[in-house]
Amino acid sequence: MSYTPKILAFSGSLRSGSFNKIVARTAAEGARKAGAEITLLDLKELPMPLYDSDVVEEKGFDPNAARFQEILLAHDGLLISTPEYNASLPGALKNAIDWASRANGEIKMGSTFKNKVAGIMSASPGSFGGIRCLSHLRAVLSILGVIVLPEEFAISAVHQAFDDNGAHKDSKMHSLLEQHGANVAETLKKLRG
Ligand code: FNR
Repeated sequence: MSYTPKILAFSGSLRSGSFNKIVARTAAEGARKAGAEITLLDLKELPMPLYDSDVVEEKGFDPNAARFQEILLAHDGLLISTPEYNASLPGALKNAIDWASRANGEIKMGSTFKNKVAGIMSASPGSFGGIRCLSHLRAVLSILGVIVLPEEFAISAVHQAFDDNGAHKDSKMHSLLEQHGANVAETLKKLRG
């Protein structure tokens, strides 16, 4: 039976008008064209409290965090586009990763991320495209056992970069983002197919 990679794409920004959501969607479209099954997740739909193990002990595991774990476990690949907040990951993204990394019932610590393949991107209205957060995101994902593809993309001046149809106005950049998504799918096929 042929293997179909399942890839989860999301933005590190909760904002409804998030530019990173557009970037994640573009890469996801490339993965879809390469034969992957895609899920677009909006982390805003899974609000999680700040991780506090006292609260976990008192009230149990947060249901949205548990749902995020389930969603992660149902996928082999990740496409994450995130803004840079003060030269690092947004707190909401780090908090979601922290929650998902914890043991919960049958789910062992760290197992939600282990051996997944990820493509990472950032986007910012600024001229550096949020590139400073990518090494931080790579470090966090790597310690959790994610194979993060070597190439990464930072989209600068993102507020002017996409047209009304959600296509990057620079067709070369649009193709590179789609290729990035496709590379996650192709790497998964090589590893697991
Ligand atoms: C920012 N922004 C920002 N941009 C950047 O290039 N480098 C930075 O260090 C920061 N720091 C920062 C901190 C905080 C708290 C906020 C709210 C914003 C601006 C950020 O890139 C911009 O708001 C993006 O549009 C956010 O991405 P989304 O929401 O459009 O995906």
